Amino acid sequence: MSDSFEPQIIAFCCKYCAYAAADLAGSMRLSYPSNVKITQVPCTGRVDIVHLLRAFENGADGVYVAGCMEGDCHFVSGNLKARKRVEYVKKTLAELGIEPERVEMYNLSSAMGPRFAEIANEMTARIKKLGPSPLNNKKAA
Ligand code: FES
Repeated sequence: MSDSFEPQIIAFCCKYCAYAAADLAGSMRLSYPSNVKITQVPCTGRVDIVHLLRAFENGADGVYVAGCMEGDCHFVSGNLKARKRVEYVKKTLAELGIEPERVEMYNLSSAMGPRFAEIANEMTARIKKLGPSPLNNKKAA
C-alpha cells in the first residue's frame, strides 16, 4: 500500500481508562497518529454492534474499542460485553469479505499513556498495510 494512504481510524475509548490514558499520553508528549479519532464513551459496554458497523459505513478504515482492564470495568462487565461485540463484528466483516483485523478490542488502564500511543500506532500500521476499507470503495463507486 502506498505511503500516502492515511487511514481513518475511530477509537471508542472508555473515559475511565483509555480516554484518560490518551490524556496522559498527551501530557507525556508521546506522539500518536492524528488520523485516530477518539470518541469518548462512559464505558465500552455502551458501544453497540451498530456503532461499530456504522463507523465503517461512515468511512472508517479501522475501528477499535479500548476499555478498562478485565475485572476493572466500573460497570462490572461492560468491557467483556464490548469484547464479545467486537468478536461478532469481526465475524460479520469476514462474512462480507472484509478483513476482520480492521476491528479490535484493547484493554488498558488510565496509567498506560505509552500503551495508548502504542495501540494507536499499531492500529494505524495495521490498517495502512490493509489499505482503504472496501466499504469506502463501494461508497465512492
Ligand atoms: Fe471502562 Fe467499563 S468502565 S470499560
